Amino acid sequence: MKEQVQSRFITFEGIDRSGKSTQTKQLKRNLDKAGVRCIVTSEPGGSGQIGAAIREMLMNPDIKRNEITAALLFNADRHEHVTSIIQPTLAKGIWVICDRFYDSTMAYQGAGGGVDRKFLEDLNRISCGDLRPDMTILLRGDVDNRMLRSPRLDYYDQGHKAFEKRVSKYFEDIATTELDRFVSIDGSGSVEEVGEAIFAEVKHRFLD
Ligand code: TMP
Repeated sequence: MKEQVQSRFITFEGIDRSGKSTQTKQLKRNLDKAGVRCIVTSEPGGSGQIGAAIREMLMNPDIKRNEITAALLFNADRHEHVTSIIQPTLAKGIWVICDRFYDSTMAYQGAGGGVDRKFLEDLNRISCGDLRPDMTILLRGDVDNRMLRSPRLDYYDQGHKAFEKRVSKYFEDIATTELDRFVSIDGSGSVEEVGEAIFAEVKHRFLD
């Protein structure tokens, strides 16, 4: 019988359009080939009906809210996600790959939006309990080039370049502080090249 590998919780972080959602799927393809059972999920919105409704509220530019309200909504979605999807899946021995998790709230609402860090850490404890990612992949992208390359209206894409630079700097800083959890990968190569770099790190940590 094939030995069951311990389930792992892997999150992806980075600025908007850094290629995260493509790379979460690429990692799943690579893990599938290696015989590792896994799912891909995402925030905001991965938690089913409540998540979809919260995502709709958060991403609708006509619905105005301040950053504390946004942090509460992202965390409400996260609590549902953790309790109804992530933890039950991990408990079955299946790996979970998640496109964004609590580091995004620290980066966007905290560093970007100025919400108190301690308040966000307290919220995080309420919404996630003891759950921590086993590994977080930071996909590095360039705020300036990326904006020119693909203009698109989304949550923060309303000319807030200074905001996004604070977000980007937060991610870079935390990736160099929490070296045991973070792996920082240059997202500028082809999908396959970046995917191989990510899979090499995952294999090295969990499968070798
Ligand atoms: P997405 O484009 O990766 O689906 O993310 C949607 C937007 O929501 C993106 O601009 C980042 C933002 N966001 C936060 O501001 N805080 C959070 O906690 C999360 C999960 C996402």
